[in-house]
Amino acid sequence: MENTDLKVTSTRWYPVYHIAAPAGWVNDPNGFCCFGGQYHFFYQHYPYGVEWGPMHWGHVVSRDLVNWEHLPIALAPDQEYDKDGVFSGCGIVKDNKLYLLYTGHANLPEGGRLQRQCLAVSEDGVNFEKSAKNPIIVAPQAVDMSTEDFRDPKVWKHGGKYYMVLGSKTADGSRGELLLYESSDLENWQFKNVPTQSVGNQGNMWECPNYARIGNQDVLIMSPMGINPEGNKFLNNVDVIYSVGKLNYKTGIFTHGDFELLDSGFEFYAPQLMQIDGRTIFIGWLEMWGAPQPEKADGWAGQMTIPRELQIKNGKVYSVPIKELESLRRDEKVFENVTLDKPTKLDGVEGAVGELLVTAYAAKSKKFSINLRGTIKLFYDAETNIFKLIRDAAGDEGLAGEREVEISPCDKLKLRVYLDKSSVEVFINDGEAVLSARIYPDESAQEIVFEPEENLTLKEVKFYKLAQSVPAPKM
Ligand code: FRU
Repeated sequence: MENTDLKVTSTRWYPVYHIAAPAGWVNDPNGFCCFGGQYHFFYQHYPYGVEWGPMHWGHVVSRDLVNWEHLPIALAPDQEYDKDGVFSGCGIVKDNKLYLLYTGHANLPEGGRLQRQCLAVSEDGVNFEKSAKNPIIVAPQAVDMSTEDFRDPKVWKHGGKYYMVLGSKTADGSRGELLLYESSDLENWQFKNVPTQSVGNQGNMWECPNYARIGNQDVLIMSPMGINPEGNKFLNNVDVIYSVGKLNYKTGIFTHGDFELLDSGFEFYAPQLMQIDGRTIFIGWLEMWGAPQPEKADGWAGQMTIPRELQIKNGKVYSVPIKELESLRRDEKVFENVTLDKPTKLDGVEGAVGELLVTAYAAKSKKFSINLRGTIKLFYDAETNIFKLIRDAAGDEGLAGEREVEISPCDKLKLRVYLDKSSVEVFINDGEAVLSARIYPDESAQEIVFEPEENLTLKEVKFYKLAQSVPAPKM
């Protein structure tokens, strides 16, 4: 039986400033857009249990991208074409209406499944009506692709027309690929081409494609499944990659450079982009398929990242916390020019929820770690420029191992760390690299310890408590 009264039973790990469901399961961000003076953000959601189930779209709104409130579930699997799930998709405004484009997922009685693209429209931003023309896109016959994996529309406007990228894979299941469509009205779509495919070892299915035009460059982001991690810089078998290049709208071909990781941490997936007022803002799922998710014991599973701004500098993508988040800061602590030669706590620099800013003289410091809540360590080696997230001390929650990234040589290492009840997001040197992870410490574990291997010279340390900006769950 479905438990319609599912409730969160403990807030020990429930976030205070990251989007999560009132209760139940959450995965991909969906439909991130601005409509009627509010930011709308949706997410894959199963409200009746803590495991993935027939997908709904949960819905939150905000006027400032920081303080969010819940709205009723926007879409439920109630039609023949989406009976087994209203899968991921996007939102776009046209003629004063909010259009949601999503994938209808339907299992077939004879086995197998069909994924087709669908449309739902809202005039008030709360109630959505599914189009009578659904499904509006079925898989094209003449393309080397899988009809079972044909999903996650992302739509944008260019030169008076609408374009859509979809995630898919080749018919033999060996390579992930994108499909590009064109439309003049969001309802009738023509297939254009396969803009790019995985080569070598970039996964056998590309999910959740996303797109941004920044300056005169195009950025495509996808979440590949089935990466072979061996000998591969993409260390998980699922990860998020991006490439910067040029999309030729006539041919539908994306000419681009290498793929790079968008986040080098443990848990980060399926980011959804919104371009607004000259900025490209995205939120990802701060989780990964197959993660242990001990919060299930408390009636919920999964949360989002903070909103990040995507910038391009020298052809490389940077991820930066959006400036609006500074409004959450309370109770500033500042330390300047501190030299340490043994494990040290700084007065007032502690908490389960907070923002930590550290500027360390890299060359004077050699190797050091910052131990957060006894659960995860941020490690830096100034000789190799290797930065690591080490989660071996994560306790008995099934989380272990380390993730690492090589950063550009620097005189000063700048870290900006967002801590919430069960998450850590580390931004290095103004967003050159980002590492995200879930952690599950005891609520009483609040210590932040600076651990030099020889000595550590800190130019500056700042710490802020952060205010609550998402609704506390009803218990
Ligand atoms: C990615 C994904 C999407 C799909 C959704 C279903 O995490 O598999 O491809 O639309 O989740 O919940």
